Amino acid sequence: MITKEQKEKLAQESKKIADNISHIKHRIVVFSGKGGVGKTMVSVNLSYGLHVHGYKTGILDADITGPNVPKMTGIQGEVHMSGNKIIPQESHGVKIISMANLLSPDQAVIWRGPMRSKMINQFLGDVEWGNMDYLIADLPPGTGDEVLTIAQSMKPDMAIIVTTPQEVSLIDSVRAISMAKKMEISQIALIENMSGLICPDCGHRIDLFGSGGGKKQAEEMNIPFLGAIPINIDARIMADKGKSIVIEKNDADISVVIFQIVNKIENVLGV
Ligand SMILES: Nc1ncnc2c1ncn2[C@@H]1O[C@H](COP(=O)(O)OP(=O)(O)OP(=O)(O)O)[C@@H](O)[C@H]1O
Ligand SMILES: [Mg+2]
Repeated sequence: MITKEQKEKLAQESKKIADNISHIKHRIVVFSGKGGVGKTMVSVNLSYGLHVHGYKTGILDADITGPNVPKMTGIQGEVHMSGNKIIPQESHGVKIISMANLLSPDQAVIWRGPMRSKMINQFLGDVEWGNMDYLIADLPPGTGDEVLTIAQSMKPDMAIIVTTPQEVSLIDSVRAISMAKKMEISQIALIENMSGLICPDCGHRIDLFGSGGGKKQAEEMNIPFLGAIPINIDARIMADKGKSIVIEKNDADISVVIFQIVNKIENVLGV
């Protein structure tokens, strides 16, 4: 049974979060059924892409136990406080908050769901986001507590589900799409990542993990398909060095597709 005091505390926390994120126009969650499909890669590059298009953008790394956004954006060091607010870090103009910057690299976070949810709520309620056009939350794999917390607290107006073309990922993406539908997120869309590889030497396309399954899945689930992002070796090498392909090489095949997806997001959500 929840006590009156606990109820009041929860209501206060909800209000604090709602007030703090009230100046963020659009809130997007990126998640997937399966791990390792490129959620962080997509979140980071879409954020940069939106920023390049002139929008104030931020990334909330909601992967508390496996935070990878700092690695892919090159942000280092500790976060700073201003009064009782956490100041987000910045990479190429994109504001970022991540658990990784609150820990030493070898420190493991062994927290149960409620603790992870509490941290996410703190990222929403205590970070000085300010006025912003888009905040993108990069979630851990699966349909666990983090997704529920984000849905309840962040009130996203768009969910982007990432899948690879393989059957094992597509099957799991159905669960993720169903969850987004249950959470009544108004815009739900699918991206196929790691969709084919163009050989850098001969230009021949290799469908390493297959291709086309994402589009088909989106049609079957009656949701928009945002695009098929190819495998790009430079993108992976840059990501490992904390650099972004859309910033460094905006004419690469992968960057072109990412900017097309950015256009679609702008069209769907507006500013
Ligand atoms: N289109 C792509 N081309 C090349 N490399 C990619 C592409 N998408 C992702 N990668 C690479 O694949 C690896 C996994 O991607 P990423 O970390 O974004 O997946 P994730 O879904 O966020 O994983 P997790 O479930 O662990 O959070 C990373 O090394 C990333 O740089
Ligand atoms: Mg990730």
